[in-house]
Amino acid sequence: MQRVKKAIIPAAGLGTRFLPATKSMPKEMLPIVDTPTIQFIVEEAVKSGIDEILIITNSNKHSMENYFDLNYELEMRLKEAGKNDLVDLIRQVASLANIHYVRQKEPKGLGHAILCARTFVGNEPFAVLLGDDMVVNQGKPALLQLVEAYNQKTCSILGVQEVLHTEVNKYGIVTPSREVKDGKKLFKVVDMVEKPDIDKAESDYAVLGRYILTPEIFDILSHTEPGKNGEIQLTDAIRDLMVHQPVYACDFVGTRYDVGDKFGYVKATIDYSLRRADMSKKVKDYIKELAKNFN
Ligand code: UTP
Repeated sequence: MQRVKKAIIPAAGLGTRFLPATKSMPKEMLPIVDTPTIQFIVEEAVKSGIDEILIITNSNKHSMENYFDLNYELEMRLKEAGKNDLVDLIRQVASLANIHYVRQKEPKGLGHAILCARTFVGNEPFAVLLGDDMVVNQGKPALLQLVEAYNQKTCSILGVQEVLHTEVNKYGIVTPSREVKDGKKLFKVVDMVEKPDIDKAESDYAVLGRYILTPEIFDILSHTEPGKNGEIQLTDAIRDLMVHQPVYACDFVGTRYDVGDKFGYVKATIDYSLRRADMSKKVKDYIKELAKNFN
């Protein structure tokens, strides 16, 4: 069995839900307090045993590459100012992981973005983490839970969680196989539908930005026709993969935030500041003060 060593982070989307900020700034660089969202995703991959990371970018995303690189001029100025703790902080970011980049020349969809990683991945299973989905977990990182599921089943694994039934039309929803569901954390999937009508959804299990995929997905993606919104949809390719190979869902443990959505971003920011020792008390006191005027 091949170990999952490589991860792809597709980050070439237009981020239209965050305009105007994303007119000149990648949404992955929007900070949760002082840390860009992409750093949380990279850290999750590293903690899950990933050795090499490929970020799919576009021409508007240089700042991400600069962020994970060294910045000698800034280091020199910080050293001169005696701020050695900050020198260490910015150096740590540059040594987090082996990060590679490839450009998606046109935003032709998530499936197309993943196809851009074909040469990097080669013929081995790989992980996908969407920069929009941040998962906070005091125990095992979400991706590590999927990697362990892969080690058990040696097939593609979709990271899922139950969402409110009234919100299934916002997600890719999986159809669990009847024999294997029964409240299990790891179950076989027989179908997947992108944003189904509420009354037509086969379950409330939504795919939430974490995948382990087998390399056979690349051949399928190279033949997948544009689907919804004229984009090459990963969901369409995974449905095709299910015809040839088993695909499982892993109901992972962790609090997930959609940081590509304004309210999800605000929730992640508040929760993270409440967990930070240097901010927690100030933020709590401020919220209590604000709450006095809520009705
Ligand atoms: P989203 O649809 O959530 O991202 O794609 P978006 O297109 O940037 O967002 P909005 O809706 O316009 O605000 C899910 C993931 O797939 C990547 C995105 O960067 C995001 O991480 N993606 C999407 C690509 O890399 N390329 C694409 O062509 C489309």
